[in-house]
Amino acid sequence: MIQNHPELVYLDNGATTFKPQCVIDAVNRYYTESCCNIHRGDYDLSFEVSKAYDETRKIVADFIGANQDQEIVFCAGASAALNLVAEGYGAKFLQPGDIVLSTEAEHASNILPWFRVCEKRQAVLNYIPLTEKGELTIEHFRSVMNERVKVVAVANVTNVLGYPVPIKEICAIAHEYGAIVVCDGAQAVPHIPVNVVDWGVDFLAFSAHKLCGPTGVGVLYGRFDLLEKMDPALLGGGSNARFDMCGNILLKNPPFKFEAGTPAIEATLGMAAALKYVRSIGMDQIAAYEEALKKYCVEKMKQLDHVILYNADSPTGLVAFNVKGVFAQDAASYLNSRHIAVRAGNHCAKILMEVLKTSETIRASFAFYNTFAEVDAFVQAVSEITLENCVGLFF
Ligand code: ALA
Repeated sequence: MIQNHPELVYLDNGATTFKPQCVIDAVNRYYTESCCNIHRGDYDLSFEVSKAYDETRKIVADFIGANQDQEIVFCAGASAALNLVAEGYGAKFLQPGDIVLSTEAEHASNILPWFRVCEKRQAVLNYIPLTEKGELTIEHFRSVMNERVKVVAVANVTNVLGYPVPIKEICAIAHEYGAIVVCDGAQAVPHIPVNVVDWGVDFLAFSAHKLCGPTGVGVLYGRFDLLEKMDPALLGGGSNARFDMCGNILLKNPPFKFEAGTPAIEATLGMAAALKYVRSIGMDQIAAYEEALKKYCVEKMKQLDHVILYNADSPTGLVAFNVKGVFAQDAASYLNSRHIAVRAGNHCAKILMEVLKTSETIRASFAFYNTFAEVDAFVQAVSEITLENCVGLFF
């Protein structure tokens, strides 16, 4: 991508990231050297590719600090993982009157599945109040915790503002009340060091494509005892040990009971390559570099009187802003005319916009391969945005 688009300043990494050559090679290698199914063939090639696929579970477990690779469920992405928890755990264990706590800063994927489950189970979805800036604080969290809360569904880093939540304390408090914590890690796992055991999360979801891996694959980490108790969302080949004509089904143990059907083998192998790649750079280094890019960008943007910044002090590489008097998508179109790729709109976090008191924002999202020179080009282009410039694009 960098070679094919030398002019492009790609600042939409919150949506998806570029793929390093080793990931592309891993995907190609599967199709050209070992293209067969896993766990089903009685021949060397199938054994080899099954082994590489199974080793990916260990790579993921190490990457997020899980105790065992059986706690790693492969699925289609963070959305699929969060839906699996809502349907497989929530729909099974929530009782009428139980509470699911979430926030108005969440991505749709960590809210909508809970709406549906709450309706099905006559449970209630309540929101942890956010500060005016859209941050989740422990004080606010404590103020709404009680023993009716059974699930706390929050992102560790939200996808618009990027304020990291105090996840370790949230888990400790939730557990005091007997609730579980379902963490949307889609914007955290690619950008900061993660340790599920240290944090104490019960479930963590993330997608490979936001951390330099292929699309179509992601991970649900779940505490093993919870995975054992919960139901799969899908049934089919590979997930059962046996079944009979009367409908008796014996499911396999986790994680296999959740993985019916032929998986995205090439994408999973690509994810393994991606994790090794980002690990070789170092998550501490990635976090520090992206924070430096963000700070540099924000300091420059603060000098622009016509810009409204929504998250100047959040440490992760997301900059949410608007240009006064200009519709967000028009401003993004102007940036596009300057070869700068950003996202504008509500970013699937539709209820956050009520907190921010705006219907849309523009989001620039950094990755470790962005440069300070790209930030300069971005801020320069933002400084040029006027209503006239934007209108000029269309006439
Ligand atoms: N969830 C992705 C984003 O925030 C697509 O842009």
